[in-house]
Amino acid sequence: MDGRGPGKTFPPVRRAFTAGPFGVRVPPRYTHGVIDLDSLAAGGSLERQLLEEIDLARLPRHVAIIMDGNGRWAKQRGSPRVEGHRAGIASVREAVETCARLELDALTLYAFSVENWKRPRFEIVTLMSLLKEFLARELGNLLKNDIRFRVVGRMNELDPSVQKALAQGLAATSSCRGMTFNIALNYGGRTEIVDACRSLANDVVSGRLTPEQIDEETLGSRLGTAGLPDPDLLIRTSGEMRVSNFLLWQIAYSEIWVTPTLWPDFRKRHLFEAILDFQKRERRYGGVINEGRLADGKAEAQG
Ligand code: FPP
Repeated sequence: MDGRGPGKTFPPVRRAFTAGPFGVRVPPRYTHGVIDLDSLAAGGSLERQLLEEIDLARLPRHVAIIMDGNGRWAKQRGSPRVEGHRAGIASVREAVETCARLELDALTLYAFSVENWKRPRFEIVTLMSLLKEFLARELGNLLKNDIRFRVVGRMNELDPSVQKALAQGLAATSSCRGMTFNIALNYGGRTEIVDACRSLANDVVSGRLTPEQIDEETLGSRLGTAGLPDPDLLIRTSGEMRVSNFLLWQIAYSEIWVTPTLWPDFRKRHLFEAILDFQKRERRYGGVINEGRLADGKAEAQG
């Protein structure tokens, strides 16, 4: 989002749920625009080579990223940990821009977990300041690219100044119809499921819902990612093989791609490599593949 490429505005589309694999209801892609390859990678570059190998008709709809390794990146340079977070902002910007230009439905970044409050106070304050700075600086670009900003996590427990900055970003982009950019903040997968259960239980107690009406769809509708497809691809940087309480419900069938690259070094090249690897996977959703179609005959295998 450095403003170098042509300003891209995505057309608004109407969302209606359709049947996905095994009858799971998923919202349709938000757009079927023509992806501008030149704005994604210059001709002749390594990125362009990778991009040309990607099947643009089979992109993941939702990519989720566990941004990890900022502390190690800083340590390798003899710098304080917060310098790793600061450097990670450039990676955030590049990931958002690239995913938006690829016209994905959603990108979710894990910025701060419910467990991260255990970190030194200075690190927490710096992370929150970086987030506020990012929002102030990037809001114009989000709007220009029709990107809808959303937050998943317990926003109400954050510092009032952070809540204010987030609320401004949410309100300003609420009518954007392009990619959804989710930040997971004060987020925990288990906490999110507990909150969803509490909300359903309240509705049962007040008579708005019967226990029999509770199914995967009603529970999913109470999560922070309601209305979005589940992540097809989960990326984790810095080589750790863990999901760290991230989107526990939503990643049930996600393909996982782990790179040793530390988050501040993560660039569009790595995203393209992840997508290429994703496209080699055979996704079966617990079923069997029969001549390119899931054997229940309801829908073609995706990805
Ligand atoms: C993990 O690295 C990273 C985080 C806990 C924070 C990520 C936050 C940012 C990149 C900045 C703010 C984000 C946005 C969306 C504007 P770590 O510190 O656990 O690294 P380590 O495992 O090497 O110690």
